[in-house]
Amino acid sequence: MSEILILNTQAEYVEQCAALQPLCYPTLAKEEQLKAEHFANHIRLFPEGQFMAIDRATGRVVGTTAGFLTYYDRIEPEYFRHHKFIDAIAGGWLTNHNPRGNYYYGVDMCVHPDYRGRGIARRFHDARKALCKRLNLKGQVIGGMIPGFAAYKHVMTAHEYVRYVQAGLIYDSTLTTQLRNGFVLRGMLENYLDDPPTEGWSTLLEWRNPDYVEFGLPTPRTLHGPPRSTSAADHSHATYP
Ligand SMILES: CC(C)(COP(=O)(O)OP(=O)(O)OC[C@H]1O[C@@H](n2cnc3c(N)ncnc32)[C@H](O)[C@@H]1OP(=O)(O)O)[C@@H](O)C(=O)NCCC(=O)NCCS
Repeated sequence: MSEILILNTQAEYVEQCAALQPLCYPTLAKEEQLKAEHFANHIRLFPEGQFMAIDRATGRVVGTTAGFLTYYDRIEPEYFRHHKFIDAIAGGWLTNHNPRGNYYYGVDMCVHPDYRGRGIARRFHDARKALCKRLNLKGQVIGGMIPGFAAYKHVMTAHEYVRYVQAGLIYDSTLTTQLRNGFVLRGMLENYLDDPPTEGWSTLLEWRNPDYVEFGLPTPRTLHGPPRSTSAADHSHATYP
């Protein structure tokens, strides 16, 4: 099996990153799929928050994950009642990115269908968790798709479906992976996405950084000097285990 490298997303790969979107989100509205120009802007705004997986043998991008920083007091469903994916991601541009935010907002994570089940998503999650620890963020928040719900929607509600997945009785390629990577369900999001098969139902998920130090106390940032530069050059050659 060929070696997979996890790297910060690089500008020369943005077309390949975009090409994965329709493969991984075939039923998601085109307006909600990320384009090459979006990836390029993510790299400009927050280079260390963007990751890609490359098959070393072919040099092809086989997975991506994007995110930005935002501020939340806490992750509660009432607060997210009118929350929509397209607004959260500023139409794909991530111009809502707040460098002083306390949460990493996971925009998406996708792995080429031929490369699934090889632990690439786990390595993306590990890279994102390491970033959260390095920046002393409170955690991560996700509005997660539940693609498997499409096959069950005539026999149960989205809430019931998610409870079955949580109990391990149904495998959902997305939600099961997120739960196995330490995310906790905080609630359900209605009409979050434009994805007809799942009727727009999504999960509100949170991962809490166990090493987070509350504001006001000395943090890793203040203990170890100023935050690292966020320039793309600093991250262009970093690889993640
Ligand atoms: C979600 C997605 C990124 C996962 O990528 P992946 O690289 O295949 O995931 P991984 O290989 O790291 O992990 C899959 C997990 O599911 C588990 N799994 C796989 N098949 C399973 C099954 N039939 N039953 C139970 N668990 C199963 C694996 O064991 C693994 O868990 P582990 O790490 O604890 O062993 C990928 O399926 C994808 O691109 N989906 C489409 C896009 C999408 O919906 N993205 C999320 C948007 S919110």
